[in-house]
Order: sequence, then C-alpha cells, then structure tokens
Amino acid sequence: MPQLAEKDQHQEQDRKQAMKELVDALNEDLAREYQAIIAYTVYSNVLKGAQWMNIADELKKHAAEELQHALIIADQIDYLGGMPTATPKPVKVSEKPEEMIRFDLDNETETIRNYRRRVKQAEAIGHYALAEQLRTIISQEQEHQHDLATALGIDVPDVFCEGA
Ligand SMILES: [Fe+2]
Ligand SMILES: [Fe+2]
Repeated sequence: MPQLAEKDQHQEQDRKQAMKELVDALNEDLAREYQAIIAYTVYSNVLKGAQWMNIADELKKHAAEELQHALIIADQIDYLGGMPTATPKPVKVSEKPEEMIRFDLDNETETIRNYRRRVKQAEAIGHYALAEQLRTIISQEQEHQHDLATALGIDVPDVFCEGA
C-alpha cells in the first residue's frame, strides 16, 4: 500500500526533524552551561569583602555542578548523533558584586526556562531517560537560583509563566 508507506515516511521525517531540533537546542544548553562554569569560576574569585564570603564559596560549588551538567548534556548530544559545541555563550563582567550575582541569577532563570522546554521536547520523541536527567539538572539549577536570590535579598524569580 503506497499511501501507508508515504505516511510512514512523513512520520519518519517529522521524527528526524524533532531530533535535530532537540540536538540543536541541547547545544544551546551546553553553551549556557559553559557560560555558567566560566562566570562562577571568575565571580567566586572576584567577590571580595566579608559580606560576600559565603556566597563566593557557594559559587565555587555551583561551578563544579555546572561542569557536571555540561558533561551530561555533551554526552546526550553525542548519544543522539550530534557534535557537542565548543563555544560558550558570552560572559558578562562587572566590578560590582550585586551586578555579578544578578547576571548569574538571570542566567539561572533563563537556563531553567530552557530546560523545562527541553523536557517536553525529549518526551515528545519518547526520550524519557533524557527527560529524567534534565529534571535532576533543573532541581540543581533551582537551588542555584535560590542561593543567588537569597544573597541579593530578593524573591526567587517565577519561571512557571509558560505552564511548565
Ligand atoms: Fe547547569
Ligand atoms: Fe546553575
């Protein structure tokens, strides 16, 4: 039945397209993880003064966790047949401690927003193992976001606006 074969072909094309979009998006996530590793490494050493000592130590731990995330995402990109990127998203620098922590907080919020989308994309193509790994990463990013918001003395930004 040629009609059925044609339908199968369309489905296969759609799946391939969804897979390509997922790999491209994961590479954006990986570039964001590199950005976080660099930002936390630099900021944790630049933050000076007694009031920032605790958060500076916290940022060093974040840096190590972001590296773990990068390794997981790169591994998944490879597994899906893609090539992991070698380029980080640009890192903003500032002389002011509050501004540096604010950059980190904004990046964490953006990261969480993206990973929530990625969970949906992974599940849409039946890649449940990846979705589970992403959920574990999201819970760590939420802790990062919480640490940064606490250091700034503000509420944790809302990322549920897209119904994720
Ligand atoms: Fe991360
Ligand atoms: Fe993070």
